[in-house]
Amino acid sequence: MEQSCVGIRAAASLNWIVMTQITRRHFLQAAAAASLSVPTAALAQRATSAFGSAAQIEFFRTDPRYREALLRYCDVIVPMNDLKWEALRHTRDGFDFSGADELIGFARNAGKTLRGHTLVWGDALPPWAKEMKTAAEAERELIRHIETVVDRYKGVIASWDVVNEVIAHDPLAGAGALRDTIWLRLLGPGYIETAFRTAARVDPSARLVLNDYDFENPDPRTRARREEAIRIIRRLKDKGIPIHTVGFQAHLYGERDMDGPGLQKFCLDLSKLDVGTVVTELDVIDWRFPPEPAARDQAAANLVQSFLSAMSLINRPEAIITWGMSDANSWISTTFKRDDRRPSRPLPLDVNYKPKPMMKVIEQFTRARV
Ligand code: XIL
Repeated sequence: MEQSCVGIRAAASLNWIVMTQITRRHFLQAAAAASLSVPTAALAQRATSAFGSAAQIEFFRTDPRYREALLRYCDVIVPMNDLKWEALRHTRDGFDFSGADELIGFARNAGKTLRGHTLVWGDALPPWAKEMKTAAEAERELIRHIETVVDRYKGVIASWDVVNEVIAHDPLAGAGALRDTIWLRLLGPGYIETAFRTAARVDPSARLVLNDYDFENPDPRTRARREEAIRIIRRLKDKGIPIHTVGFQAHLYGERDMDGPGLQKFCLDLSKLDVGTVVTELDVIDWRFPPEPAARDQAAANLVQSFLSAMSLINRPEAIITWGMSDANSWISTTFKRDDRRPSRPLPLDVNYKPKPMMKVIEQFTRARV
């Protein structure tokens, strides 16, 4: 299974470090502007976030336009599903890296940086993992998984979603602040520490990310989710366990208000803890938007604009990643179907890979160019 990845490891991690340092310089400038009122024009001039997209292997393999869009626009590529447990761990004892290696090889050959999604998640588990019964078994598998996967791509995958969706959907609902998963049930909250500690031990130079959703709306549930993220980070830091970045999935609901001030406050709180931000899965859930394509695309662009403006005021996100490039292929079309059955338009390129207004907005905040 293990062919070595050494070769261009150094180059890949250097790439990411340079990117992060540029971000940090802007952080220092922006910290002075913590009054939270930098005009958009000023932001545009300081556009330095890397841009990237998730890549779904089925379309990557079959559609040349899919590959061309990744090559043309992206600094960063993220295997969408091929680093999840259900892709890597068909059986308890083997690791199948074929899909991940295919995407990662393509990205490396093209000089792209890579993000890894994800080492620990309650979803996308193979049947045998869902049937684990004891704490000892779960801990053994968790550690072995992280050691094997992080080591294989050490220096190649520069930023890892160490844990995904660990915060309860609604921490105020009375069932605890952490999401009910097999990991929490068998190992208790300490599994988050185990995951970060193991990843840091295996690749001390990787950016280690807590990735989660619903951080951007003005309601008590969202506020409680942000507070829980801060609590998790504090607990890790108090124990000397590295965590570098919070990943904002940013599957943005068109029908929800954007909480600019709340987001800015959250980013400021994170920067005080020396924790950066990365936008990991940006797309627009447009099931409640108007039917006409032009109006829908403009509404989606406006929503992305208000989100990225708030995200970029305190500190530049380390990268802004969309969850796919083209409306031709998105999980939104199947997961959030419109009542009128019209196709979803969640991404920066339309079904013919033509840039939409959302792409122009992304240009203002990243190095991507139409
Ligand atoms: C989704 C993928 O886009 C789909 O192709 C797959 O069938 C299911 O998972 N939050 C996450 C992502 O962290 O891993 C999910 O990706 C979307 C929601």
